[in-house]
Amino acid sequence: MIALERTALETVTAFTRVIDARDNYTGGHSARVSRFARFLGAELGLDPEQVQMLEWAGLLHDVGKLGVPERILNKPGRLTREEFEQVKHHPRLGFEMVRPVTGLAPLLDAVLHHHENYDGSGYPDGLAGEGIPLSARIMRIADLYDALTTDRPYRKAMAFEQALAEMRGESGQATDPTLTALFVDAIQRDRATPGGTAPRARIHLQRRSTAGTAVAPTE
Ligand SMILES: [Fe+2]
Repeated sequence: MIALERTALETVTAFTRVIDARDNYTGGHSARVSRFARFLGAELGLDPEQVQMLEWAGLLHDVGKLGVPERILNKPGRLTREEFEQVKHHPRLGFEMVRPVTGLAPLLDAVLHHHENYDGSGYPDGLAGEGIPLSARIMRIADLYDALTTDRPYRKAMAFEQALAEMRGESGQATDPTLTALFVDAIQRDRATPGGTAPRARIHLQRRSTAGTAVAPTE
């Protein structure tokens, strides 16, 4: 990696810490999504440049949350309909933030469409199936897996097998069935391999703040 690329990656990583620091519950979320997305991209046999693009997209997928008030991101209890509408703006806000950086153009699809569901029920555009860009379908899986395997206000992190069962349950609804099957198989295989490369599931987060007891899921 040339020095300039390294500097750019370090800058993005620093930016990511700012994103995650605003959300009491998802500390480290972007970094983990980045690792899971890279893992799935490599498993798919994508070329190294595309895999690196997924790594960066994972780091920046939620950058638009910088435009969502912190009181909403960390609100105890369920969000109101209006608050959830504000949260739903974050993919488009992120897209608008990243768009001026010409070198990051390959990340735009993943940032804009990481909440699209395979069955068309997601946002912002209600895209479905293979109409959703591949990078965004990968991001959806990485994002979901991290959500299942970290503590949330409404439940503890799931055990590995339970998380995989949930992943299978979402296959064809939230996530692309072919990619989900590949991810689940790969992560199981990886876990059974001493020194496997995938980040380990069941990550328990320490809450930074004692304020509030619960927040609605916002990722
Ligand atoms: Fe998101």
